[in-house]
Amino acid sequence: MKTTTLIVDNNVNTTQAYAQAVEKLLMGEVIAFPTETVYGLGAIATNEQAVAKIFEAKGRPSDNPLIIHFGDAHHILEYVREISDKAYKCMNAFWPGPLTLILHAKPNVLAPNVTAGLHTVGVRIPDHPVALELLTMLGQPVAAPSANRSGKPSPTTALHVEKDLNGRIPLILDGGPTGIGLESTVVDFTIDPPVILRPGGVTASMLRQVVGEVIEPDTLIVDSASVPRSPGMKYAHYAPDASLYLIQPDHMAIENAIKSIHTKQQTVSLLAPDEFMQYHADWFYSFGNQENLEASAHDLYAHLRACDDTPTDIILVTVPVKVGVGAAILNRLEKAADGNWWHS
Ligand code: TXA
Ligand code: MG
Repeated sequence: MKTTTLIVDNNVNTTQAYAQAVEKLLMGEVIAFPTETVYGLGAIATNEQAVAKIFEAKGRPSDNPLIIHFGDAHHILEYVREISDKAYKCMNAFWPGPLTLILHAKPNVLAPNVTAGLHTVGVRIPDHPVALELLTMLGQPVAAPSANRSGKPSPTTALHVEKDLNGRIPLILDGGPTGIGLESTVVDFTIDPPVILRPGGVTASMLRQVVGEVIEPDTLIVDSASVPRSPGMKYAHYAPDASLYLIQPDHMAIENAIKSIHTKQQTVSLLAPDEFMQYHADWFYSFGNQENLEASAHDLYAHLRACDDTPTDIILVTVPVKVGVGAAILNRLEKAADGNWWHS
């Protein structure tokens, strides 16, 4: 299959690009498009065969459900049983935006493979002009996971999508780099208090300001059968090819780690704030200023993917403080490193 990339920004005539994208979706094809978080790989959420193509293109396990994207909130009640007061409040406060709400699904409306056999479904309205234009023109909900091959870092540019899915999907809408760079916050509203299943741009404290108590992953009793967990949490994720280790943003620790790796004739990539540039890692990828967590989130996946274009043996990544979006960054890093910390 030939993959076409169409640029959709303000400087080019985009009408045809959107028309083509809508046509492909109506024909039961999958297409990639930008959202404010990461690029998504979408298919019409009521078309089982189209949704099956998402799983196939990504190499995604079929027991991992998809998020449904809407252009506006009007039609959501056709797909979910009810929207609780807390869920309503969060939709009002954070939509369009990087918040996915898990709600009870109405039976027999969505393609069964969207929910992977669960009775719940994740819904969100993305805050991106391209995604909103596409969803509005289509007028139907779109099931879309991140547009990467399963296990790889999520794509934050159209080029990342091409790299993973070239020849596997017919169309990519290129709306430039995504803003936030990490996937949406996923919150389970089918229980009370709501539970954060995946931290993201909408932080725990932002949610608490709107609905009071919410439970964070750290406070989860992991093995309790009563706590629903996100099926996606059990899979390896966001992983580059080389071995990745977490390290504290500490000058001595980083200097020693790089020396010790070089002593073993290995190469090392360092992802860290600017102030750690001086330690002669073979490749250095900046998170910018240590205080600017938004910049780290924005660049994290692009940096991890850039490491795959080098022959680096080892990747060291400094961990952020766990405040605000730092919780989401740390969550993705722990998965990418499979929990491994560097010990010299
Ligand atoms: O920002 C995002 O959320 C992006 C953009 C494209 O919208 N999408 C995204 O989708 O990250 P995906 O499929 O890569 O991640 C969805 C996560 C998975 O961990 C999945 O297990 C979880 O949401 N999820 C989806 N439906 C669920 C459900 N009914 N119950 C629990 N978890 C669910
Ligand atoms: Mg994903």
